[in-house]
Amino acid sequence: MIVSLGITIGLLSCDSGNTRRTPGHIYAPDMTYSRAYDAYTSNPNFADSMTSRLPVAGAIARGHQLPDHLKEGDTTAYKTFTTSMRFNEDDLKEGRRLFNIYCGICHGTNLDGQGPLFASGKFASMPANFKDAKYLHMSVGQMYAAAKYGKNMMGSYAAQLDAKQRWMVIAYIKKVQSENGGDAFALGETAKADSSKTMVAKVEEKK
Ligand code: HEC
Repeated sequence: MIVSLGITIGLLSCDSGNTRRTPGHIYAPDMTYSRAYDAYTSNPNFADSMTSRLPVAGAIARGHQLPDHLKEGDTTAYKTFTTSMRFNEDDLKEGRRLFNIYCGICHGTNLDGQGPLFASGKFASMPANFKDAKYLHMSVGQMYAAAKYGKNMMGSYAAQLDAKQRWMVIAYIKKVQSENGGDAFALGETAKADSSKTMVAKVEEKK
């Protein structure tokens, strides 16, 4: 009884009956009242009075790449288009994961064009069989264009895969092709890593 009375009185004493709206004494006014324009306040320094500015036209978000400048339908450019990126084991694993999510349903996880959508008869157009002679030596640029813009019955995957992811998927396809009668795998990381090592070695020799 006495304990509960104590608690009640204790709680009541916290509330003086008036809700306080003032913070009391301000010790650091330049922190309490910002000198900068707050994000959503109007701003007399700009013609449109917006404090939050849009990025400068052409700005590239951190972690994103420069645009590839490949134009849809420019099939001549497709053939020679390529990348300076090189891919290690982990990238190829990621390429395989993405391929199985976005492409495998049609092209098959064995890359033979017999994915479940086509094999079940629900998709009328035969997807490319990447192990077939017709595709074994296809240029990486043409593959990239197919992933970015689509090809006939195949839709574009530009919204699902960013440029780097598209290249990872293509590197994976090319790796599998190299093991199935295709050209030697040229997108591997080792070539690049070796050349940087030789440069270091040469600098050390000069000392
Ligand atoms: C809905 C089914 C489907 C999906 C999913 C699909 N494709 Fe295709 N793909 C096709 C078909 C069908 C063709 C054959 C197009 C033609 O030549 O008429 C094709 C052709 C291609 C070609 C050959 C392009 C050329 O120029 O002949 C490449 C490369 C390719 N696909 C890559 C991919 C990649 C990479 C993915 C995943 C990001 C993917 N495809 C997802 C159906 C699909």
